[in-house]
Amino acid sequence: MNKRVDRRELLKFLAASPLLTSYSAFAQEAEEVLGERLMDPSEVINVFEMEAVARKNIPPAHLGYLNTGVDSDNTLRANRDGFTRFQIKPRRLVDVSRTDTRVNILGTEASSPIFLCPVGSQGAYHPEAELGTARAAAAKGHHMVLSTQSSTAVEAVAEAKGAPIWHQLYPTDRWEYTVAMLKRAESAGCTAVCLTIDLPGGRNTETLSIMMREDDRTCSNCHTGQAKPMFEGLDMRGVGLNNPALTWDVIGRMKDVTSMNVIIKGVEVGADAALAVQYGADGIWVSNHGGRATETERGTIECLPEIVAAVNGRVPVIVDSGFRRGTDIYKALALGASAIGVGRPYCWGLGAFGQAGVERVLDLLNRELLITMRGSGTPTIASIGSDYVHDAGYRVPRGKLGRELL
Ligand SMILES: Cc1cc2nc3c(=O)[nH]c(=O)nc-3n(C[C@H](O)[C@H](O)[C@H](O)COP(=O)(O)O)c2cc1C
Repeated sequence: MNKRVDRRELLKFLAASPLLTSYSAFAQEAEEVLGERLMDPSEVINVFEMEAVARKNIPPAHLGYLNTGVDSDNTLRANRDGFTRFQIKPRRLVDVSRTDTRVNILGTEASSPIFLCPVGSQGAYHPEAELGTARAAAAKGHHMVLSTQSSTAVEAVAEAKGAPIWHQLYPTDRWEYTVAMLKRAESAGCTAVCLTIDLPGGRNTETLSIMMREDDRTCSNCHTGQAKPMFEGLDMRGVGLNNPALTWDVIGRMKDVTSMNVIIKGVEVGADAALAVQYGADGIWVSNHGGRATETERGTIECLPEIVAAVNGRVPVIVDSGFRRGTDIYKALALGASAIGVGRPYCWGLGAFGQAGVERVLDLLNRELLITMRGSGTPTIASIGSDYVHDAGYRVPRGKLGRELL
């Protein structure tokens, strides 16, 4: 804590210094002070402000885990910068007095195309953990996907949600464990399993390492090596979370042992999307793990068009990574995505205010999406097509100003 206060004092000094006029120093300082001023979810006006509140509540090492990208965080930034390549083309004098954001993806109905991504270890952000997330999703009618690495058991989360959830799968490198987890998720009422394929061989999370230095606590006091609830009854000694030997035939093997839909999470190129469909996938999830897997330097919004083209309507395409505004969500819908996932934004809400913070994040994103839908002459999700977005072909520099203080 003292280190954080010292840092803030340093930032204030830098911001005031006539020797150094740095916008980012001002912005950082403004953000940290803002986090202390916003006391109620209703005062928060966008997800960036929610991050500012979360920064105040979440210990540095946990915040580092939440916010880190990989290597130099270039893919993390590319996820945001990529949106500048696409611009909205609004149509006027369309009756938008009645709007409808409902969707149905593989039989799962939701009030909005915005769904909650699997984020592991939510107990690190708030004691309500995945139960707070599930209750918020239920209150707002949003769909959610639960991580293999959740702090809370799938059965309890499914009950809190009160409607079918999807299960995200890290398969481990033991096939019998894969089967055991599939059976358990199916018994808990999950209707789809999302196999994450973008972490076959580790990752380099430098921002996490840097922020861990800011944390005075001893990690081993809490991290006692206890397995996550999904691994209960499985001896995880010497077992890897992922299997670097996996190839596309895993889809058929999974379908042989489960009746859940099989969705492939972590697809970034059209050729892989085509292979996934060829091998029997029921859905394609365009994701770079929120810039936490391979440092590709390509935003998922930039990957989306070639994947939608390769899939050609045969299965739903969903997308995540870097979605922070209603306009971002609108662009993905216009480019052919059926649903859009958010990860960090709702965890900032959870860390800031528990369930109420997650609800506020969903309200803010839905409000922005609705404003964009009305403003563009597209009152329903189905009416948002490719005519409503222009691909400039390159990223348009935005500069550092604006509400996004990163
Ligand atoms: C802290 C953290 C933990 C995550 N844990 C998982 C996980 O257990 N399984 C998984 O498939 N993806 C995981 N993800 C990736 C998310 O499902 C999602 O792809 C990503 O957060 C979307 O990007 P965004 O955070 O920019 O919205 C995690 C992401 C974060 C930030």
